[in-house]
Amino acid sequence: MKGVILAGGLGTRLQPLTKITNKHLLPVYDKPMILYSIETLKQSGVEEIMLVCGREHAGHFMNFLGSGQDYGIKLSYALQDKNDGGIADALRYTEDFSEGENLAVILGDNIFSNSFRTEVKEFTGGATVFFKQVDEPARFGVPVFNKAKTKVVRIEEKPKKPKSPFAQVGFYIYDNNVFRIIRKLKPSGRGELEITDVNNHYIKNGGLHFSFISGKWYDAGTIDNLLAASVDLARQAKKNVSRLK
Ligand code: DAU
Repeated sequence: MKGVILAGGLGTRLQPLTKITNKHLLPVYDKPMILYSIETLKQSGVEEIMLVCGREHAGHFMNFLGSGQDYGIKLSYALQDKNDGGIADALRYTEDFSEGENLAVILGDNIFSNSFRTEVKEFTGGATVFFKQVDEPARFGVPVFNKAKTKVVRIEEKPKKPKSPFAQVGFYIYDNNVFRIIRKLKPSGRGELEITDVNNHYIKNGGLHFSFISGKWYDAGTIDNLLAASVDLARQAKKNVSRLK
């Protein structure tokens, strides 16, 4: 399976740090944020990767990561024209790269302690998304379950009143229909093509699979979360706890 790292966006919540460089090149403990997503994809068995980023600071990524050889991956790049077009808009740019294959997609500001090796290996089509119980679900995409909790009825993006305590994390596996779905999307109220709308399409077609992650998960997209992720990862490193299991 091929992999995609989405590293566009404006990084507004991390200003003024993101005036210096792209959010995903900022340090999280002892390395630039982007290396965590590369590690997660590699540990999940994905080594052919496309990184999508905005124009601003695009050269910083290329300068740092090059062909990916130093990190044991084969890396290519795509530019998202509209920095804040949305996650699904960024994914659109990887259609040629995908060559009709399935894709493992990771959000560049998400850091995981688990890999997705089993799910990547066993993926047979449709889409697979992952949930984690969190304290503040309203900040994320939140699944609404049926009564028996066996099915996801829909996913609501940043709901005011979350209907479950779970967050949709930033790792997704898609079959190639994802591009057909993206082409049909309309921008949301905040003017973005939402990944949650993509996943809701898969729910409607009966093709959405889900799983819960048990490892640690950080969305390092705000100053407080960036700091919390760094502190936590530093503590674990001092205790010699390996990050990826
Ligand atoms: O972190 C998980 C959450 O990520 C999910 O629960 C939400 O459903 C999902 O919409 C997303 O929410 P965020 O508000 O955290 O998304 P954010 O705008 O921070 O973008 C996440 C990553 O996607 C970011 O690292 C860069 C990439 N991105 C984002 C936008 C808006 C792009 O590549 N292009 C874009 O236009």
